[in-house]
Amino acid sequence: MRLNFARSAALIAIVAASAAATQVKAEDVEVLHWWTAGGEAAALNVLKENLQEQGIGWEDMPVAGGGGEQAMTVLRARVTAGNPPAAVQMLGFDITDWAAEGALSNLNDIAAEENWDEVVPEALQKFSKYDGNWVAAPVNVHSTNWVWANKSILDELGIEQPQTWDELIAALDKVKASGKVAIAHGGQPWQDATIFDAVVMATGGPEFYQASMIDLDPEALGSDTMKEVFDRMTVLRGYVDDNFSGRDWNLASAMVINDEAAFQFMGDWAKGEFLKAGLTPDEDFLCFRFPGTQDQVTFNSDQFAFFNQGGEPTAEQVALAKAIMSPEFQSAFNVVKGSVPARTDVSDEAFDACGKKGMKDLAAAASSGNLFGSMAHGHANPASVKNAMYDVITAQFNGEYDSETATQELVDAVSIAQ
Ligand code: GAL
Repeated sequence: MRLNFARSAALIAIVAASAAATQVKAEDVEVLHWWTAGGEAAALNVLKENLQEQGIGWEDMPVAGGGGEQAMTVLRARVTAGNPPAAVQMLGFDITDWAAEGALSNLNDIAAEENWDEVVPEALQKFSKYDGNWVAAPVNVHSTNWVWANKSILDELGIEQPQTWDELIAALDKVKASGKVAIAHGGQPWQDATIFDAVVMATGGPEFYQASMIDLDPEALGSDTMKEVFDRMTVLRGYVDDNFSGRDWNLASAMVINDEAAFQFMGDWAKGEFLKAGLTPDEDFLCFRFPGTQDQVTFNSDQFAFFNQGGEPTAEQVALAKAIMSPEFQSAFNVVKGSVPARTDVSDEAFDACGKKGMKDLAAAASSGNLFGSMAHGHANPASVKNAMYDVITAQFNGEYDSETATQELVDAVSIAQ
């Protein structure tokens, strides 16, 4: 369990202050989210505007911090104080954990009226439903095993899109030798874990990913393959710049955007930053799967869960859920966000080359058994296990453990966390 008392106390103080300062009007809907980076905020605006058109006010409750760890701490404090926000951006097992506590509104009526069962893929319904009841509305599907590359740096250095681990390392060597940063990375646990997810998949393949990250099989967790994963993490650590510690993900994206760095390994929310900067896929930047994971998709899905305000969902909550699930909105929002729609019936027409590829890859992965919930983004296991893994991954990435010790630590940490 990752505990940071100082940070939690600071967050609780912020929550208390903002709760006191905020007088939420009855017709407003308060939304807790972590979409504060440029591309994220632009996408969120699409939702705000949609609601405003319906005469519903938006009470913003942003909690910065990619991946949502801080947002979830604030949420816990708000619920403990008896003052949950009406709507909350959430990921995977966090949704089902809150549903298990009985904290979420039942959305079955609106889901039946709008036929969500038919249009939301099974892989997402696993998290949108609890005990057969709809408890969240999925706004997107992100996938996390992407590489974002600066096209002009690659062209200048004669680097082809790497297809294998060895080609990737050769490409990274060329960039490093040129004096540019090879990998733009932000050393935060969830970002380290995002790379780890991709390296696990690339090194061990889909069955190994399933066994280690999802089924938590101690043999897979403690295997030589896992040791090799950690060895590869050490190799990648050699290509990040000296100032990587603690850097926000969008600042790492900015390094690729500003021609300082060649590659970023990050989910497709990064595309939102490239688009916001006015760049075009295939012309200015490239998007491709982490080498060795071309046929796989590790996904996460941002969903909005609605906290029980005492009884049935409020009219504003229903309006927000309805807005989120409309096909037009799912297209408009995801075009900006970098993700793809959470409905299977939305056309890819409005999407750019990366978005079209994302939609195609997702459908192919789902039908070939190559779609997996991302460990780093809370879709493989509950937060307790995820955080236990984060601790080991980050410690190893920062040189605290050699690969053998890290492998054993992973087995132990997961076993304690379960
Ligand atoms: C993910 C989330 C994305 C994006 C990212 C960085 O967890 O699913 O929507 O916001 O964090 O903040």
